[in-house]
Amino acid sequence: MTMIKESFHVKQGDMTTAGDASARIKRQCKQLGIPASVVRRVSVGTYEAEINLVIHANGGRIDFAVEPEKITIRVVDDGPGIPDLEKAMTEGWSTASNEVRNLGFGAGMGLPNMKRNADAFDIKSEVGVGTDITMVFNI
Ligand SMILES: Nc1ncnc2c1ncn2[C@@H]1O[C@H](COP(=O)(O)OP(=O)(O)OP(=O)(O)O)[C@@H](O)[C@H]1O
Ligand SMILES: [Mg+2]
Repeated sequence: MTMIKESFHVKQGDMTTAGDASARIKRQCKQLGIPASVVRRVSVGTYEAEINLVIHANGGRIDFAVEPEKITIRVVDDGPGIPDLEKAMTEGWSTASNEVRNLGFGAGMGLPNMKRNADAFDIKSEVGVGTDITMVFNI
């Protein structure tokens, strides 16, 4: 299996490019011959994290690493941070604006979906510092 290590920059507030990084990661996984069920879980988790960078943070960075046994996605931003992680991880809890909800986001399902789809999920967040999420997907 080819090893890959790549970083993608995600822009704040730009809905025209939101989803581009996760689409490229999905394509690369497919090209590597990673099983479709794994590719699907990676795409869902990465897409949710990428949209959060665009709508909740100041953009950010997605690191993508493929090793023989696993795919690691790390999503880092220096946005506002999350004051109450337990609440944020609750299905249906969202601070999304009406504008964002009108675009079809803000169901409060992104973080729970990331956790559900990843084999390992870790989130650290500090108010005024930012948010750092790591998802691991076993191949
Ligand atoms: N990177 C982030 N920076 C700051 N706050 C965040 C970040 N990611 C999530 N949050 C906060 O956690 C809440 C829950 O996030 P989650 O992704 O589960 O739902 P959502 O983005 O509001 O809606 P959905 O993902 O269903 O469109 C958000 O409403 C926001 O308050
Ligand atoms: Mg979300």
